[in-house]
Amino acid sequence: MAPRKFFVGGNWKMNGSKKEIEALVDVLKKGITGDAVEVVVGCPSIYLQHAACLLPSNIALSAQNCYKVPKGAFTGEISPAMIKDIGAPWVILGHSERRNVFGESDQLIADKTAHSLSEGLKVIACIGEKLEEREANKTEEVVLCQMNALKPAIGSNWDKVVIAYEPVWAIGTGKTASPEQAQEVHCILRKWLKEEVSGAVSESTRIIYGGSVTGATAKDLAAQPDIDGFLVGGASLKPEFVDICKAGS
Ligand code: PGA
Repeated sequence: MAPRKFFVGGNWKMNGSKKEIEALVDVLKKGITGDAVEVVVGCPSIYLQHAACLLPSNIALSAQNCYKVPKGAFTGEISPAMIKDIGAPWVILGHSERRNVFGESDQLIADKTAHSLSEGLKVIACIGEKLEEREANKTEEVVLCQMNALKPAIGSNWDKVVIAYEPVWAIGTGKTASPEQAQEVHCILRKWLKEEVSGAVSESTRIIYGGSVTGATAKDLAAQPDIDGFLVGGASLKPEFVDICKAGS
């Protein structure tokens, strides 16, 4: 079976301007050459078209969210069909900020995932526990509950999905999970995939880590056997994103 290709997603969140995106893409173009690593950048929806025109062919574009139906009276939303139409093959779904700031439920995230996949969009599906859940020893229960909600939505489309394990307490806090903490959860997720989906899916699905990844922390995390890449927020807006992309080699 082909080894899992290292995957690094940048999540720009609600940051950037046309000029800043141009400058950032210039840095990425110079630093990331070839396609040894799969690199995807998650751009604010208003700039997706702009970024699509700027990005080189070895850096793919992602939306940060979408709605669960193709079109209609849903003011402010964008659909997978629209995302594909402007040339972005990916969407990030279930990010902790969508879950916790905007109140998205497991069911809504599953519906969005199912519809995105049916429209041919690839999905970076995010899961992760809150600090109080970790402290109550509920990490495994929480992440597997999130995976169980996604399972029927993904169906047979696991080859179009990357799982991002992002402990909420590590996102934007500067508190990166230790390589051992992240590996422990990634290993649980891989075992779940084997038992609940199949051995082949467990071997081939990329499980990436997110939460305060930096150029300094990426290498040790990437050395863990079940960490197949990263989803990067803050550092994806900086030149060190290039170093993070190279951490797997
Ligand atoms: P961070 O964000 O790297 O700034 O912690 C990660 C994410 O939210 O995907």
